[in-house]
Amino acid sequence: MLDIKKIRADFPILKRKVHGKPLIYFDNGATSQTPTVVIDAIIDYYSNYNANIHRGVHTLSQEATDKYEEARIKIQKHFNAKHAYEIILTAGTTESVNIVASGFSSLLQEGDEVIVSALEHHSNIVPWQMMCEKAGAILRVIPMDEDGSLRIDLYDEMLSNKTKLVFCNHVSNALGTINPIETIIDKAHKFGAYVLIDGAQACPHIKPDVQALDVDFYVVSAHKMCGPTGVGILYGKQELLEKLPPYQGGGEMIDTVTFEKTTYAGLPHKFEAGTPNICGGIAFGVAVDYMNSIGFENIQKTEHELLNYATEKLLTIDGLKIYGTSTKTSVISFNIEGIHPYDIGSILDKLGIAVRTGHHCAQPIMDFYRIPGTVRASLSFYNTKEEIDIMIEAVQKAKMMLS
Ligand code: ALA
Repeated sequence: MLDIKKIRADFPILKRKVHGKPLIYFDNGATSQTPTVVIDAIIDYYSNYNANIHRGVHTLSQEATDKYEEARIKIQKHFNAKHAYEIILTAGTTESVNIVASGFSSLLQEGDEVIVSALEHHSNIVPWQMMCEKAGAILRVIPMDEDGSLRIDLYDEMLSNKTKLVFCNHVSNALGTINPIETIIDKAHKFGAYVLIDGAQACPHIKPDVQALDVDFYVVSAHKMCGPTGVGILYGKQELLEKLPPYQGGGEMIDTVTFEKTTYAGLPHKFEAGTPNICGGIAFGVAVDYMNSIGFENIQKTEHELLNYATEKLLTIDGLKIYGTSTKTSVISFNIEGIHPYDIGSILDKLGIAVRTGHHCAQPIMDFYRIPGTVRASLSFYNTKEEIDIMIEAVQKAKMMLS
């Protein structure tokens, strides 16, 4: 098991108080906390070698370029991409999805079909709706079941030679469901459709191997896995990234420019117009190293134990219902009969406990359950059973106050 004392000491924020109480941070699904090594990497960049990359012959620029490209290689190795240039550094999952959606708007034909799952975050719904509108394509939805799993039997019925693209999250942000992405990818490929997997909520818990998955696109955000905000990746197979038109025009994404015609740079630069989040990219590489130094097996074991402990205890509270009970990561979405999730969240905050309340940018899931939202406690490897005990007491207290 992990040395929890040592791990918690890596995260300075865990020492702070909120409303006079020790912070209990259970909103890891929204953003994870940042270890000192990552904070130090950010300070080091701005203190010692802040410069633009791929542009200067001077020492600072070369140092920054080297560190940025080293980070890309670390990320490539982490996700087991075949080539470093298949890792496009973006502003995060949302931008990564938009790059692919915008590119396919001009590649799809009227009447083509694309499939999304009912479990998606709005950022993996809206860009595809915009794409379908532009291309005249049809958006179809894999329905969900009461336990928060996907109806793969109905997915089978939806696939056809008209299907060109399939989009699904690896893990649902609202419920924590781990989707059977291997099956989803295999089945889509049988019909020649490409698959994009949104790994934003999976990457803090699971180390995906994009080659073994044979996935066409995989997207993540650094800030879900102990990195900074404003940076993420679009992994894409080389031949597909080459086929997609660029997303934005600007500096560094070109080969030659004249007023008559511009030719584009090769990968990854074709999709990295303008000055990127240099410091963020470098810090992302450090975060990847940090997560691997903890080890994903250890992370999963610890989080699984926390999930089971919290679930058991929460279910002893009368009137409490947990949404999403199939195979999942350490996310618990719940409500107490007759009480609005926002009211529970507000009382928990006063007691120093951070949870997310609301629809979690996944309104279709809330519509399915006919609820306005849930209270979501998303646990991380740096949380403890003692913190869960305090949350249980706080939920009981909130229930007493609000019933
Ligand atoms: N997508 C993030 C969440 O689920 C913000 O909270």
